[in-house]
Amino acid sequence: MKKILMLTSLAVALFLRVAAQEISIDKGWRFSTGDSSQWASTSYNDQNWKPIDVTRIWEVQGYPNYDGFGWYRLHVIILSSIKEKSYLKDSLKIDLGIIDDNDEVYLNGKLIGKYGGKGGNIKSSNYGPRSYTIAANNPSILWDKENVLAVRVFDTGGDGGMYGDKHLITMADVMDHVRINTDADFSYGDNNSLGKSIKLLTTGGYIYKGKLDFALTDPENGNIIYQKTNDADFAAGRPFTYIFNVARLDKKSYKISYTFTEEKSGKSITKTEGTPYVLTPYPSSKPKINGPDVYGARPGNPFLYLVPATGRKPLIYSAAGLPDGLTLNANTGIISGSVTVKGDYPVVLTVHNSVGTKTKKFTIKIGDLIGLTPALGWNSWNAWGLTVNDQKVRTSAKAMAVKLSAYGWIYINIDDGWEAAQRSSTGEITPNEKFPDMKGLTDYIHNLGLKMGIYSSPGPRTCGGYLGSWQHEDQDAKTYGDWGIDYLKYDWCSYSEVTAKNPSLDDLKKPYFVMRGSLNKINRDIMFSLCQYGWGDVWNWGAEVGGNSWRTTGDIEDTWKSMSRIGFNQVAEGPHAQSGHFNDPDMLVVGKVGWGDNQRNSRLTPDEQYTHISLWSLLSAPLLIGCDMAHLDRFTLGLLTNDEVLAIDQDALAKEAHQQLKNEDYQVWIKDLEDGGKAIGIFNTSDKYQTITLKRNGDELKGYNKIRDVWQQKYIIANGSDYNVKVAPHGVMLVRVEK
Ligand code: GAL
Repeated sequence: MKKILMLTSLAVALFLRVAAQEISIDKGWRFSTGDSSQWASTSYNDQNWKPIDVTRIWEVQGYPNYDGFGWYRLHVIILSSIKEKSYLKDSLKIDLGIIDDNDEVYLNGKLIGKYGGKGGNIKSSNYGPRSYTIAANNPSILWDKENVLAVRVFDTGGDGGMYGDKHLITMADVMDHVRINTDADFSYGDNNSLGKSIKLLTTGGYIYKGKLDFALTDPENGNIIYQKTNDADFAAGRPFTYIFNVARLDKKSYKISYTFTEEKSGKSITKTEGTPYVLTPYPSSKPKINGPDVYGARPGNPFLYLVPATGRKPLIYSAAGLPDGLTLNANTGIISGSVTVKGDYPVVLTVHNSVGTKTKKFTIKIGDLIGLTPALGWNSWNAWGLTVNDQKVRTSAKAMAVKLSAYGWIYINIDDGWEAAQRSSTGEITPNEKFPDMKGLTDYIHNLGLKMGIYSSPGPRTCGGYLGSWQHEDQDAKTYGDWGIDYLKYDWCSYSEVTAKNPSLDDLKKPYFVMRGSLNKINRDIMFSLCQYGWGDVWNWGAEVGGNSWRTTGDIEDTWKSMSRIGFNQVAEGPHAQSGHFNDPDMLVVGKVGWGDNQRNSRLTPDEQYTHISLWSLLSAPLLIGCDMAHLDRFTLGLLTNDEVLAIDQDALAKEAHQQLKNEDYQVWIKDLEDGGKAIGIFNTSDKYQTITLKRNGDELKGYNKIRDVWQQKYIIANGSDYNVKVAPHGVMLVRVEK
C-alpha cells in the first residue's frame, strides 16, 4: 500500500508542471477502457492502468477502433498560489481539451460537471472542447494536496477519447465571462463599404467598464487603415454595442481586431476576424444552364432531375432528345418519369427568357451507375447536430430551391437524430416526434425538384445514440424506399460492438455490402455514402462495396487546422476517384455552423473559406453545405453560387486533383478536366502574403495559352511570360488553363 502511495507522489512530482498562474495537466494521465463507478473514487488504485497521451485520440495509442467507455485518471496537486495570484478569486477552471464524445468529470470522487448525452443519455454525440468551472470554495477541491481528477468518457464511434492541446487548471479570469459577439452579418454598401454591429456581453455578476479598441489592418503591409477607441461598459443583460462602417476597401480581406480592456484589472480580451469580399460576379439576366454535363440513372427507377439555370424569371425550359419515358416541365425545369432502356442519351437542353436563349449539351446515361459527378447538397449535421427537425429541413429545402438549386445544388440530407427510440412492433424504423410525417417531407422536397437524404449506421445504434440498422437492413431500405429517399449516409458507429475486436478488411467491408444489397432491392436510385472515417484505406474498396462516396477522415471542424489538415492530405486517395465513386473529405464548414441549436459564423477566415471551396472542388468531393440555410449571408452565397468553381467539382472526367507541388509556404494542386484543360489551385498555406510563380514552361502551364481566374470569371493577361500571383495568407488563386 505504502509503495503505491510513494509511486503516486513520484508520478505527481514528475508530471506536474506549474507555471505562475496555471497548472498544466497534459501529462501523467492513466487510462482504462470499460466502465465502473469505483473509478471515480480517490482511493481506487489505478497504478496498473496504462499511461496515455492526452494530446492524441485513443485509437492511435493501442486501442484501434475502440468505441464505448474509457476512463482517464490523474493525480494532481492544486496549488493555492494560483488562487492568490488571480484577480477574481471565486472560481477554478479545468480545461480538458476535446472530449469525443461525452464526459463526466469527478474531482476526488464528486461529480463536478458533465457534458453531452441527449436527455441525460451519455451515449450520444457531443464531441468538442470542454472547460469546467467550479466555485473556489467547493469542498471537493483539496488545495495544496493531491487531488484525483477522473474523467469518464463515452465515445459513440470514430475518433475517441480526451485529446487536444489545452489541458489546464487555472483560476477563472475576469475576462472568462466576457464574450465579443461578432456573429451579426456584415452589411455591404456603396464605395465597397462594409459595416457591422458587434456586441460585448457578459453572463457573470461583474460590471465591466473600460475601452473598446477597433482596428482595421491591411495584412499585406501591416498598415492600419482605421482605428478607433470607445468607452465601453456593460453588465449581464446590458450588452455594449459597437457599430462601424468602413469604405473604399479593395477586393481582399482586411483584418479587424476588437480589444476590450477592463479599467480596474487592466486585463484585456481580443477577437479578430477577416473582412469578407465577394469575388463571384453577380449573375447575368441572360439565361445560363449550370450543373454537370452528364447524369446517371438506373433503368425502371423514378427519374428526377432539375435543370439548374440562372437568368431573369420567368425561365422557359425545353429539351430535345429526351429518352422515352421522360418529360420536362417547361415552367419548373424538372425532368421526371422513368426510362426502361439502358443507354447513353444525348440531350440538348434549352432555357429561354425575355433577354435570350441558351442551350447546353447534356448526356443522360441510363445504366447501373448513378452519382456520376459528386453530390451537391446540404446536410443537417454541421448546422444542427442532433437538434435537426422537420421545420429546419423544410426551411433549408426552401432556401436551397430559392437561392441555390439554380447552380446544381440538389440534396437535402437529414443526418443523425431523426430516429424514434423503438422500432414498430413489426420491426420497422420510425421517425421520432421531430419528424411527424417523413413521407410528407420527402414529397415536399421532391416537389421543389430536390432530393432527400437520410442517415443510419450498421450498428445497433448510431453515433448519436439513436437506433441503427443492425439486423434490419432490408426493412430499413424498404422504409427509405417507401418514403422516397434518394441518398443514404451510412456510418459505422457501434458496429464495433458486433464485429471482431480488430476487424479485418472483410469485416470492415461487410456492413456496406449488406446495406448496398438491401438498397439494390429497392426500386429507387439511392446514393450510398460511406462514413467510416477512412478506416482500412476505404478508397481502395469503397467502389467495390457500392459506395458512391466514402469519408476519408474523421469529422471536420471549422478551423484552419482541421480543414487544411484534411484537405491538403488527400494524396493517396486521389487516384481512386472516378465517375460514380468519390472520396469524401467531409462536409463544408462555411456559413453559420454550430452542431446544435446555437449557430455562429464559421471560424474560417474569408480567405480560408475560398481555400475550402476551391480545394474541395479540385478534390471532386461531394459538396455538402453544413450551415444554417435560413441565414445565407452575401459572402457565403458568393462562395456557393460560382458556377465556374462548381463546374470544376462537377467535371464529367471525374478525376481528382493531385498535389503537384508542396513547400513550406504554398502548394499547387492540379485537376485534369474533360475539355483537355486543367484547373489549378495555388494555395498559400503560410501566415503571410506570398507571391507565387508558375513558370511558363513548367508542368502547370506548358502548352496552355489562356489562364482564367475562376472565382472572378475573367481571363488573366500573362503575355506569354511566367505567371506571378500574389496570394493572401491561407488563401487561394484558382485558375483554369485552356489551350
Ligand atoms: C459521426 C459522423 C458525423 C455525423 C455524426 C452523427 O460519426 O462522422 O458526420 O454523421 O456521426 O452522429
